[in-house]
Amino acid sequence: MNKENNNLMEKIVSLCKRRGFIYQGAEMYGGLSGTWDYGPLGAELKFNIEQLWWKRFVSSREDMYPISSSIIVPEAIWQASGHLESFTDPMVECEKCKKRFRADQLTDTKNCLECKGKLGSKKTFNLLFPVETGSTTEDTTRAYLRGELAQGMFVNFKNIIDSFHPKLPFGIAQIGKVFRNEINPRNFLFRVREFDLAEFEYFVKENEWEKWFEYWRKEMWNWIDDIGLSKDNVHELEVEEGDRAHYSKRTIDFEYDYPFGRKELYGLSYRTDYDLKNHKLYYLDDSTGKKFIPHVIEPTFGLGRTIFAILCESYHEDELNGEKRVFLKLPHTIAPVKVAVFPLLKNKPELVKKAREVHTSLKKDIPNIMFDDNGNIGKRYRRQDEIGTPYCITIDFDTLEDDTVTVRDRDSGEQKRVATSELLSSLSL
Ligand code: GAP
Repeated sequence: MNKENNNLMEKIVSLCKRRGFIYQGAEMYGGLSGTWDYGPLGAELKFNIEQLWWKRFVSSREDMYPISSSIIVPEAIWQASGHLESFTDPMVECEKCKKRFRADQLTDTKNCLECKGKLGSKKTFNLLFPVETGSTTEDTTRAYLRGELAQGMFVNFKNIIDSFHPKLPFGIAQIGKVFRNEINPRNFLFRVREFDLAEFEYFVKENEWEKWFEYWRKEMWNWIDDIGLSKDNVHELEVEEGDRAHYSKRTIDFEYDYPFGRKELYGLSYRTDYDLKNHKLYYLDDSTGKKFIPHVIEPTFGLGRTIFAILCESYHEDELNGEKRVFLKLPHTIAPVKVAVFPLLKNKPELVKKAREVHTSLKKDIPNIMFDDNGNIGKRYRRQDEIGTPYCITIDFDTLEDDTVTVRDRDSGEQKRVATSELLSSLSL
């Protein structure tokens, strides 16, 4: 990350909007605070990160059971999980303008930040979004949009055991949306009201929890490396007892140096047998005939915070051939567009035809390939640099003679001639 880069946050938010990564939610109606919409490139980037996560933590393993559970979750589950009582933030409201603030984030606890009015007394504010299910007033049932994925894994624990008979240790994983009525959503994707999480609950014998905690701690660092975050910008924080979630006996936060400060990126928690016990669930060991409650290690990965950290890390400004440029040095595995193909001139049909042929032939192996003939070649390079496309391929008049093309590398700006027959193998994607 370019730490010396002034206004990095504003530059990233602006690039995301300009280039179609991320837009403010409901912007044309004035915007809804704490919501963001992913545009074509953002959706692709998020999808690539999810795929990479899924491969590393789910499909490449034999001990992980994926699920996709309901978003609307009945009150009884949140009662049992302790969220109705404890999933809260301290809140104060201004008596004059009625604006609400997180009490633990204020330096002045007496006067309103906005209008200087008097702040009321501290209250606890539950972050779960209530919803009513049912079609008539008589059969209405209170439910909540899920505030964490984990309860979906716990309430399906018995289903998984009955269908698959897994041996301990094993995990239940999912990726999905969660909802939290944050008092003060802010800092772009960092604190929002609706976000994507990737998470698993890993069930172990109680006397092995420390071993597995350490195992997943290392695996989380491997993941951080996979997505190209520098180890210098990620820091572990042992969370003190009073600051831990109600279910946790030990938590390590993985914090990232965001432009606005060092803040939580991921969490790793030892949830003990807290949840399974509250849901009255247990495990029967076939070999010994003994019933017991497994303990749980939970690595959790916020995807919005991941994307934000990756954007901070990959945003670069430099000078190439005497011109200033901005480029996203995204890992090739997650870049939304892998390759762009250009005809040198768009008004030369023979170049356009050849460029189309190269594009079509590569698209079979590289689905995320773009054909771009908009503006002059310099503008196209700048556009592709800004969206983090690793390679640009230009078809020029020499191509028509010797069937070679120019391949330009995003990071170095270096160009080399490559025979079209060797094009695919020359790209490292
Ligand atoms: N099941 C455990 C759990 O949900 P959490 O620390 O409350 O733990 C998990 O949240 C992750 O979700 C965090 O590590 C962070 O990456 C992300 N996260 C939490 N609150 C968020 C918010 N308001 N906006 C965006 N991401 C958030």
